Amino acid sequence: MKKDIENANDIKILVDTFYQKAVENDLLGPIFNDIAKVNWQHHLPIMYSFWSSVLLATPGYVGNPMDAHFRLNQKITLTDADFNTWKDLFVQTVTDLFEGEIANEAKKKAISIADLMFYKIQNYNQSAGVNIGKVR
Ligand code: HEM
Repeated sequence: MKKDIENANDIKILVDTFYQKAVENDLLGPIFNDIAKVNWQHHLPIMYSFWSSVLLATPGYVGNPMDAHFRLNQKITLTDADFNTWKDLFVQTVTDLFEGEIANEAKKKAISIADLMFYKIQNYNQSAGVNIGKVR
């Protein structure tokens, strides 16, 4: 019987497991490691506080996720395949580790934020004449 996402430690397990999968993924791994060259010591605590604020209503996250991904999209054109993979990995991670009301919320919110993010990025790429997928 799995438990629900209830506290900061659960968020940490979720985030750590998700990024472990993401960096090992053929499509997303190179984006995090080679393109963005993510400093994990810096990024993971930001992601703990982001997901705590979304799922547990804990104050603390200050940032602008949209800006971060627009900047990333300047380095590599982000595609629907990237976002679909991100969503699949996130949903899979939550399903593997947790079950309950907040776990369901986590999946729904991740999908809706990802869809909105991709919608905005795609609009930008189209209006800027960027040919989606041209980088790969
Ligand atoms: C194709 C999908 C995605 C990729 C490749 C991606 C990659 C990245 C990268 C490289 C960063 C910057 C890390 C750094 O600071 O060095 C970042 C930041 C972040 N990402 Fe994503 N991301 C994706 C989708 C998402 C989605 C769907 C969400 C939310 C549901 C999300 C939430 C965040 C947040 C909160 C930050 C931190 C922004 C800040 O600095 O405040 N990402 N992401």
